[in-house]
Amino acid sequence: MSHLSAENVSVSFAGLKALSSVDLQITPGRISGLIGPNGAGKTTLVNVLTGFQAPTEGTIKLDGEALTGLKPHQVRRRGIARTFQGGRLFRDLPVLDNLEVTGVGLGMSRRAAIAEAEAMLDWIGIGALGTRIAGTLPYTDERRVAIGRALMGRPAYILLDEPAAGMSALEARELSALIRHIASDLGCGVLLIEHNVGLVLGLCQHIVVLDSGAIIEEGPPAAIRDSEKVRHAYMGTAANTDLPVLEAME
Ligand SMILES: Nc1ncnc2c1ncn2[C@@H]1O[C@H](COP(=O)(O)OP(=O)(O)OP(=O)(O)O)[C@@H](O)[C@H]1O
Ligand SMILES: [Mg+2]
Repeated sequence: MSHLSAENVSVSFAGLKALSSVDLQITPGRISGLIGPNGAGKTTLVNVLTGFQAPTEGTIKLDGEALTGLKPHQVRRRGIARTFQGGRLFRDLPVLDNLEVTGVGLGMSRRAAIAEAEAMLDWIGIGALGTRIAGTLPYTDERRVAIGRALMGRPAYILLDEPAAGMSALEARELSALIRHIASDLGCGVLLIEHNVGLVLGLCQHIVVLDSGAIIEEGPPAAIRDSEKVRHAYMGTAANTDLPVLEAME
């Protein structure tokens, strides 16, 4: 069976252990969640899975084959896409061009890239935004464009780094529906990183909880919601005290 996995992954930054022996598996068509307090190592794990950060120890494997040493664009061509915490669109370019550039980078002709970009924006429901300059978009549209860009070339996996940050409850619910469609209609394996724990509990079949670089809990939403360890990890962080009412969002 297809899968993307992190096996025994550790990352050290000058003495700071950002990840310690982390194992994680993502499978097509499924939504997995990755949660944990600020600084837990979530983005570092996404960076390792996508070739932006070399692990100090451990391996990333796609269908059992090690991806060691591949550059981010090579990982992307293998069908592993991501979004960034905070967007990172080409802000001066129109929305359509943002997607087109990615398509061309993946080896499509310009014509094919434009056609796919248009189809992707339509599929997401933001076809009308194609000619807008990316940097002028409201936050939530920017996020959806970033997801559209990550879906160019129909990756097998998409890793979403805090896609709901700053969204209202209604916007988060809309995003939730989109993420569900990405898994069910496109068959993508999704890794969802979110501080909105309710969103994660409502969407994910399997959730991994990181704290200080180590996995402290994993399992189905019900087990995570009821976990004392998870509650404790969040309570211990002043910045997160307003966060997890550990209730699943619809
Ligand atoms: N390039 C880097 N150099 C040094 N330290 C880093 C680097 N990247 C991350 N760190 C540190 O590694 C730890 C994990 O950071 P990471 O960004 O992965 O956390 P996170 O779980 O994504 O947090 P947040 O929820 O705030 O986004 C933190 O202590 C962070 O300061
Ligand atoms: Mg992060």
